[in-house]
Amino acid sequence: MFNSMRISQLLHRDPDEETINAEGWIRTKRDSKNFCFFEMNDGSSLKNLQVILDKQDASVISTIQAISTGASVRFTGILVESPGKNQKVELQAKTVELVGDAPVDTYPLQKKRHSFEFLREIAHLRPRTNTFGAVTRVRNALSYAVHSFFQEKGFLYIHTPIITTSDCEGAGEMFQVTTLPLNQVPKEEGKEGGKVDFSKDFFGKPANLTVSGQLEAEIYALALKNVYTFGPTFRAENSNTSRHLSEFWMVEPEMAFCTLDGDMALAEEFLKYIFSYVLNHCEEDMDFFNKWIQKGVKDSLEHVVNSKFTHLPYTEAIKELERSKQDFEFPVSWGDDLQSEHERYLTETVFKGPVTVTDYPREIKAFYMRLNDDEKTVRAMDVLVPRLGEIIGGSERENRYDVLLRRIKEQGLNEKDYWWYLDLRRYGSVPHAGFGLGFERVIQYVTGMQNIRDVIPFPRTVQNAEF
Ligand code: 4AD
Ligand code: MG
Repeated sequence: MFNSMRISQLLHRDPDEETINAEGWIRTKRDSKNFCFFEMNDGSSLKNLQVILDKQDASVISTIQAISTGASVRFTGILVESPGKNQKVELQAKTVELVGDAPVDTYPLQKKRHSFEFLREIAHLRPRTNTFGAVTRVRNALSYAVHSFFQEKGFLYIHTPIITTSDCEGAGEMFQVTTLPLNQVPKEEGKEGGKVDFSKDFFGKPANLTVSGQLEAEIYALALKNVYTFGPTFRAENSNTSRHLSEFWMVEPEMAFCTLDGDMALAEEFLKYIFSYVLNHCEEDMDFFNKWIQKGVKDSLEHVVNSKFTHLPYTEAIKELERSKQDFEFPVSWGDDLQSEHERYLTETVFKGPVTVTDYPREIKAFYMRLNDDEKTVRAMDVLVPRLGEIIGGSERENRYDVLLRRIKEQGLNEKDYWWYLDLRRYGSVPHAGFGLGFERVIQYVTGMQNIRDVIPFPRTVQNAEF
């Protein structure tokens, strides 16, 4: 049986005489005449295990000398009551083993504060810091909460493909997947300057990394009713902001026999569920974020959990913004997409809480959204939250064959690429809806971390794919 105990588990035990193992990485060492004190961490909690080691003989003394911040160490000993007020128990060590040393002159993570920019350059070591340990545990808890929420409701988890041959958002921001030699791309009819001959490519046609699992999730929703995907998505957007990644994770539920009202209700319930989950299960880490990263972040999550989301048609949102007399960097009028400053104004100043904006102009939204009778707007929704802006984007889908075909053509997409998507509207079509939640946006929101690059283990952004 695998029975290595985590430090978080040790810290909850009562003192007793049983000899136990404790393993981890040394955060600090404090040497005195007869004893040496260590703080050791293994990523299971923010709290370290305190270890006190008797300098019993020459061999222990020489091991102690070789141990410094960052070294990996294994102790055996017994848990005794701790005189300190921060923890119940500490380890009285009997033996010490230096597993791997970390030379002081080169180990980059010495005990001082490092900037997040610097830590991004050492993304292989940053999980050893308090902040990144806490982000990782909250990310883990949120992933678990996502699955519990949908599983409890009977949604089926679908693995949609990473490589696709259709552009879901129709925005052309895709990473191409090819095995063609870039320095000698085959051309149609062997003509110089002709079109690329994709029949010679691996899949026999252009293929890309997916920007969203939605279209394939719809296939399964139209057979299994309520489904969700949760996987990586890829966008070659050239936006160097604190909210954009080129590789990010998305949660996408899709429900058949469901219109936009059901979709909005699910989004609200879902956000409240995962926020409550983190508040109830990650207390220590949330206190850390509340104190050191974003003051008041816990209250703001509580506030969302206890609020009723405002529903606001886009046209009303524009009126609100025009009325505002605010000096926006990007002035808005009907037809424009909302910028982050507008989203924040609506959530922070006007409605003081989450706002679900619906019925956006068709021109600024994807082809698959259901067209309203006004022919000007579509059944879209974006859930906006204070501090961040858009956290969820979704819609009711166009389930009428003729209208969908018209929209595909209108947007300059090739209907042949969407033959199966159109087929779903020919056989047993039904109103259906869904949304996509940017998983890193949620982690940002929950932790208060300013930059999205610091809530994913290995960020991929424009000009950056290190590690
Ligand atoms: O609004 P988006 O583009 O919606 C879709 O992709 C739909 N197909 C979803 C659906 O209906 N099933 O993206 C959904 C969410 C956004 O609200 C945002 O939170 C996040 O994904 N997102 C990003 N997160 C990080 N980096 C990026 N570059 C992102 N682009 C979108
Ligand atoms: Mg969106």
